[in-house]
Amino acid sequence: LNNGLVLTPPMGWLAWERFRCNIDCENDPENCISERLFMTMAKRIAEDGFKEAGYEYIIIDDCWMTTKRDKDRRLQSDPERFPHGIKYIADYVHSLGLKMGIYQDIGTKTCIGYPGSEGFEKIDVDTFAEWEVDYLKLDGCFKDSALFDRDYPMVGKHLNNTGRKIVYSCSWPAYQVEKKMMVNWTGIRENCNLWRNYGDIQDSYESITDIIQWYAINQDMLIPIAGPGAWNDPDMLIIGNYGLSLVQAKSQMALWAIMAAPLMMSNDLRNLRPEFKEILLNRDIIEVDQDAMGIQGRQILSAMRGFGIEVWRRPVLPVKDVGNETWASFAVVVWNRRVDGTPFYFPQRLGFYGLTHANGYYVKELFTKKDYGLMKADDELPLYVEPSGGVVMFKATLAVADGSVDALRKRK
Ligand code: DGJ
Repeated sequence: LNNGLVLTPPMGWLAWERFRCNIDCENDPENCISERLFMTMAKRIAEDGFKEAGYEYIIIDDCWMTTKRDKDRRLQSDPERFPHGIKYIADYVHSLGLKMGIYQDIGTKTCIGYPGSEGFEKIDVDTFAEWEVDYLKLDGCFKDSALFDRDYPMVGKHLNNTGRKIVYSCSWPAYQVEKKMMVNWTGIRENCNLWRNYGDIQDSYESITDIIQWYAINQDMLIPIAGPGAWNDPDMLIIGNYGLSLVQAKSQMALWAIMAAPLMMSNDLRNLRPEFKEILLNRDIIEVDQDAMGIQGRQILSAMRGFGIEVWRRPVLPVKDVGNETWASFAVVVWNRRVDGTPFYFPQRLGFYGLTHANGYYVKELFTKKDYGLMKADDELPLYVEPSGGVVMFKATLAVADGSVDALRKRK
C-alpha cells in the first residue's frame, strides 16, 4: 500500500503468540491482557535497547474489548483490565517515542468472539484514529472470505479518510489460502501494508519450519508482490519463549530477515535470557531485514536436494548498475535441518551461491562476526553449520573496482 508507511518491514512487539487471550487479571495480573502488560512491554522496548535497534510498534491483539459496544455503538476496552482506556496507553507509548497498534476483525466477531467490525467499519476506524492508534491488525474470522476482496479495501478507504497515518495489516490472504481460494495478490499489495499469508505461528521449531516451507514453495508468487510499503508476513518472532533452542532461535531471526519479514516479537521482555536478547538485537541481521531495496529473498537450495542443507539468499545494498545489468550484494543463510548431531561441514565456492562478480565480495558472518575479507567466485567458504536447525548467515558485499556503488536501485 502506497501510503508512505513501512518502507522497510515494521518492527515491534505483539501480544498474541506469548500472551494469547489471558483475561484472568485476578489470578495472573502480570500476564493478563491489560494496560499493565502493554505499558510494561513498551517500557522494556524503550529502555532495553530494542527501540535503538528499530523495534517500534507495541501492538494489542485479540481480547482487549468488552463483549458489547457502548450506546453509541463504539467499541470499548474492558474497564477492569484497561481502566484508563486505549488512548491513555497510546499517549504513554508515544511519550516513549514508540507507536501504538491495535487489533480488530473484519467479520461479525473476533476469532475469540469479541465484537467484530462488520457493519461498524467506519465507526471503528474513526474510534482507533481518535485513540491515536498508528497500526491496525485486521483479522478475518467470522466472515465469508470471498467478501474480503471487497471489504478489506473498504476498511482501507476508511483508514485513509481518517487523515491519520495508520499502518494496515491484513489477514486477507491467510484465510483464502487456507480455504484454497483464488487470491488477488495485486489487490492485496495495493490495499495493505502487510498481510498474513499463512497459519498462525506456534511456540515450536516444527511451526517455524512449516511456515518457511510454505514460503519456499510459494516464493515465485510471493517475492514479486513484496517491496517498500507492502510485506508478506510469516507471523511473529517467538525467540525467547519456550519452544526454540538457541540454534533454532538464530534460524528464525536469520530466515525472517532473508524473507524481508516484519520483525514482531511476541515474548516476555521482562525475563528474556541474554543469549536470546542478543539474537533479537543483532544489528547486522536487522540491517538485512531492513534493507532499503526491500527485495524478499528466496530459497536457492532445498533441504531435499541439499541432503538436509537448505540455502536462502537475498539481494541487498550496495548494488552496482553496469549497462543493463545489476550486480547486488547478498545476504545468505545456510540452514542445517539434519539431526545427525554434529556440525555439518559445507565447503562451497562463492560461485555456488551465485556470487560471481569478477571483483569479488567482502564476506562476513553475521552471528559469529567472522570476517573472511575479499573473496572471489572460485574461493571456498569452509562453513560448519550446527545441526537441528542451526544456521550460518553471511553477508557478501560487492566490491567494485572504482569503489563506487549505486546507492539505491529503483524498483521496477
Ligand atoms: C488469528 C490470528 O492469525 C492470530 O495472529 C491472532 O490475532 C488470533 N486470531 C486472535 O484471535
